[in-house]
Amino acid sequence: MTPPTVILSPSILDANFARLGEAVQAAEAGGADCLHLDVMDGHFVPNISFGLPIVRDIRAITKLPLDVHLMIEAPERYIEAFAKAGANRLTVHIETGYHHNRTLHAIRDLGVSPGIALNPATPVVAVEETLADVDRVLVMTVNPGFGGQKFIEASLDKVRRLRAILLERRLGAQIQVDGGIEPKRTAPQVVRAGATNLVVGSAVFKAAAGPQAALAALREAVQTARLASV
Ligand code: DX5
Ligand code: ZN
Repeated sequence: MTPPTVILSPSILDANFARLGEAVQAAEAGGADCLHLDVMDGHFVPNISFGLPIVRDIRAITKLPLDVHLMIEAPERYIEAFAKAGANRLTVHIETGYHHNRTLHAIRDLGVSPGIALNPATPVVAVEETLADVDRVLVMTVNPGFGGQKFIEASLDKVRRLRAILLERRLGAQIQVDGGIEPKRTAPQVVRAGATNLVVGSAVFKAAAGPQAALAALREAVQTARLASV
C-alpha cells in the first residue's frame, strides 16, 4: 500500500507580524500545502496571538487553504465568524467546550473541514467518539501557546495508538502534529509513527536559510521517512 502523502502546514505564529504578506508569499513559493493560523485567547492558552481580521486579510492575499487552529474557550461562539473570514479548516480542542458533536457538525455544515485537537496530557480515548466526525486529529506535540518549544517525546506513541484506532475503524482522518517539528529528527519520527499532516512554525519562519529552503528540507525529510515506512 502506498503511504499517504504528507501535508506541510507552516504556522505563521513565528513570522514577523509586521511583514505577514512576505511570510505568506514565502510559504507559497516553498510549496506549502496550506497555512496554519494559530488563534489564541489568553484563557485557554497563556498567550494572545491574533483573530478574525488577520484571517480575513490573509484570505485576501492567498489561495492556499487556511487551516485555523482555535486555542480559545467556547470555540462554538466563533466558528461562523471564522468561516466567513475565509477559514477552510477549523480545529477545536477537546478540552474546551461541552458539545463537540454539535460543534463539529456545525463546522461541516458551514462548508468548512472540521478537526479535533488534543493537548499532550489528554489521552487519545478522549477524542475517540469524535473520530467519525472529523477530517483531522491534531495531536499537540508541545503544550499549546507558544512557538519554538521542545517536542514532547511521548507524543510518538500517542500518534501510533491513534493511527491503530483509525486503521481498525477504517476511518480516513488525517493525523496532524503541531509543536517542535523540524526536518532533522522529529519530522521523520512523526511520519514513521503515522502523522500525515505536519504543522511547522519556528523551523520554517525562523530558519537561518529562510522559509523556502526550510520547506524544501522538510519535504525531502518527510518523503524519505514516508518511503522508508512502507
Ligand atoms: C503552538 C501552536 C503551533 C506553533 C508551533 O501552540 O499551535 O502551531 O506555531 O510552533 P513550532 O513549530 O515552533 O513548535
Ligand atoms: Zn497550531
